[in-house]
Amino acid sequence: MRKTSINLIILFAVLCIFGCNKKENQSKAQQETMENIRISDYGVTSKGDSVKKYTLANKNGMKVEIINFGGIITSLTAPDKNGKYEDVVLGFTRPEDYFNGNSYYFGALIGRYGNRIANAKFTLEGTSYDIDKNDGSNSLHGGKDGFHTKFWNIESVKDAKFPTLKLTYTSADGEEGYPGKLTTTVFYTLTDENALEISYEAETDKPTVVNLTQHSYFNLSGNFSKTILDHEMQINADKFLPVNETLIPTGEQKAVKGSAFDFTASKPIGKDISADDDQLKKGKGYDHNWILNGNGLRSIAKVYHPESGRVMEVLTDEPGVQFYSGNFLDGKFDTKTGGKNEFRTGFCLETQHFPDSPNQSSFPSTELKPGQKYQSKTIYKFSVKK
Ligand code: GLA
Repeated sequence: MRKTSINLIILFAVLCIFGCNKKENQSKAQQETMENIRISDYGVTSKGDSVKKYTLANKNGMKVEIINFGGIITSLTAPDKNGKYEDVVLGFTRPEDYFNGNSYYFGALIGRYGNRIANAKFTLEGTSYDIDKNDGSNSLHGGKDGFHTKFWNIESVKDAKFPTLKLTYTSADGEEGYPGKLTTTVFYTLTDENALEISYEAETDKPTVVNLTQHSYFNLSGNFSKTILDHEMQINADKFLPVNETLIPTGEQKAVKGSAFDFTASKPIGKDISADDDQLKKGKGYDHNWILNGNGLRSIAKVYHPESGRVMEVLTDEPGVQFYSGNFLDGKFDTKTGGKNEFRTGFCLETQHFPDSPNQSSFPSTELKPGQKYQSKTIYKFSVKK
């Protein structure tokens, strides 16, 4: 009897060791399939779902951290003129602040429709749709429970030249009021040229509208308690879209020449931001869509921070970019480098189709039909100027 129980204990121990080894091998295998992308635990939502963080690194030491909640970029480093890599994107210090609303949309993927849709309504192929009203009378960034609040499935792309994450999310027919089941794929690639490339794809089973973008806020100083007013910006756009009091484009396509909105030649963001200009008053600063010159994947903007020497160039194949000067940052949260997220301590360059396109027939269409493939690409490229 005693012998039998000793034997049983030995058998149990052997099985245990075997089991543990198997587990170890499995996790090794998983790490291998993620190539040079590191995966770590990031946090747990109030519903008890665990969130993972994926770290992409290139040969220069640049790193980008992305979580599977909202496809959010929580950190992105870029070199200064002395070769020092520092985080240049705003974000929360506590994971739960991303999970509980993220009203600033820090670092998030935005969908199904980035920017505003007037009165949270549109008509498509004769049917009218009411979508989520989350910004006064309008709908903003896909509604309250837009893509920035969703869990994305993440895998790495095998045999890609550079570390690449593939994120997928399927938005149900009727989600936030939008018609059609939309399957969305976003690829994040970090190249050895210190560029973060973002490619978007989507397909639908019913006519719908799509306008995907990325909502990272940049502060190239690497110090999030400083404002971005000293950053010098250039945007390749001769026209912009004036807005009404609720930030919906009036429909006019206005020349920037001679106005505070002229960024055709590089100038500090702060230079004209306080000019006596009705549009700056409506936006509380810059919060407008610029109509980009040219088409196809092209360089559309450059931002230079003189003190650090950091430069960010933006390339996109989109017709517009929302330049937002962080006017709703209100000092309610700690930043990653100390101090609070004060007014204008970050700026966004959200590449996209124009706001409210579903209601404005003179704007490039944002409609996606079954059988068509939505495709769009944006690159944020970092370098230094000495
Ligand atoms: C966008 C909008 C802004 C603001 C921010 C989030 O960039 O254009 O008006 O809503 O998102 O705070």
